[in-house]
Amino acid sequence: MKGTILVAEDDRNLRRVLRAMLTREGYEVSEATDGASAAEWLAARKADALVTDIRMPKMDGLALFRHCRERHVELPVILVTAYGRIEDAVEAMRAGAFDYILKPFDEAELLRVVGNAVASSAVSDREGASAPVEEWFGMVGRSPAWNEVRKVIEKAAASPFSVLITGETGTGKELVARAIHRISSRRDAPFLKINGAAIPPSLWEAEMFGYERGAFTGAVQSKPGRFELADRGTFFLDEVGEVPYAAQAKLLRVLEDGEFERVGGVKTFTADVRLICASNRDLKRETDRGRFREDLYYRVNGIPVHLPPLRERREDIAPLSEFFLARARRDLGTGRKTIAPGALEALERYPWPGNIRELENAVARAVALSEGEEITSAELCFGLSDPEGQALPATPEEERFHESVREHKRAVLRRAIAKAGGNKTRAAEILGLSPTYLFRLIRVLGIEG
Ligand SMILES: Nc1ncnc2c1ncn2[C@@H]1O[C@H](COP(=O)(O)OP(=O)(O)OP(=O)(O)O)[C@@H](O)[C@H]1O
Ligand SMILES: [Mg+2]
Repeated sequence: MKGTILVAEDDRNLRRVLRAMLTREGYEVSEATDGASAAEWLAARKADALVTDIRMPKMDGLALFRHCRERHVELPVILVTAYGRIEDAVEAMRAGAFDYILKPFDEAELLRVVGNAVASSAVSDREGASAPVEEWFGMVGRSPAWNEVRKVIEKAAASPFSVLITGETGTGKELVARAIHRISSRRDAPFLKINGAAIPPSLWEAEMFGYERGAFTGAVQSKPGRFELADRGTFFLDEVGEVPYAAQAKLLRVLEDGEFERVGGVKTFTADVRLICASNRDLKRETDRGRFREDLYYRVNGIPVHLPPLRERREDIAPLSEFFLARARRDLGTGRKTIAPGALEALERYPWPGNIRELENAVARAVALSEGEEITSAELCFGLSDPEGQALPATPEEERFHESVREHKRAVLRRAIAKAGGNKTRAAEILGLSPTYLFRLIRVLGIEG
């Protein structure tokens, strides 16, 4: 099951259509016929997203949305509205609704929006946790590297410039983007997010800048884009390296003079938006390869914030583990559980290719699995990604052995890469490996360049 969706809709036929589309996609669907019964349902159970009509008897969609803002802060709310009432939806978006859909809607759009909402709720579900470790905007850390990052975040938040957050997967780029927004003077305005990789290239411009009626097949009415809705707030463009080349010029223009047109429109709109981008690719290199416009790169990279991989800030592993332990205990309602001292040392030695996210999952899984009060190192290692025999070694001797094998592999890879003149795809050929596997090795073994 992909998640539970609560559908609040008074029109019986529409409710049936929504249920059919969502069930087919693998969601569990619950229905409410008006706002008040939806609120009642939510008081007793948990949904991953709420899809609600705006016009409904008893409590309408907007009142329900406001109710959710107060009582179920993390629940993504998607409003369904008729074309004539679009202002209501826009208003709700600015107040933090997840998205809106115009009637008549098509199945693909509905599923995409719901899919994004469910994915986002899985992340933010765990954001508001409290733990004994000192927490700063939902983040913890105490390494010198992390303290440096914190200073840069504060500087970036105080400035009006674009911010480019880089770091491997799972290093916390999204959390940092949210922190910058919440510290900045734009904190009371909207924070809107788009994931460059989650939107099909053909829809990119429409999603970002909106469209006018008739701009393309299916554009039965005009719709403002995310950029317009983020006016006076912050726009988070995740995976900026995935923005289609053709759309990059439009993005550059809006960054330079704050102006844009909707797709298929002639009217020029303006928006005052701070852009935060994230990328786990080396954007500079994408520029050199001609896949990312150089002028845009310099615009986007106003203030660079680099998040080092977890293996380069091992002092953070202990506080992070504590933090995730407290969260997992609370989520699972288990009693006192602690991490055995030996197990913590093992965690500190592991290279964490999936970074903080991998640690978070490992701790949550161990809490669920563990039988006693102390979580053992075996319970923590269970299921760790272990592509290169790097699973937690039991003894220092074993660790020395593994490290020497890894060093040997690094040397072989470096030689092949040098021989291929820096071209990794070519290096993969030389070694008889698939490029995907080679890239994975490079990441896992922490090879520079
Ligand atoms: N400093 C931190 N303290 C506590 N939790 C953190 C910290 N950094 C990241 N996390 C948690 O780790 C997970 C991954 O973080 P996030 O989604 O921000 O990473 P990301 O860099 O955007 O990853 P990706 O590149 O894969 O999108 C999230 O569940 C987040 O809550
Ligand atoms: Mg991310």
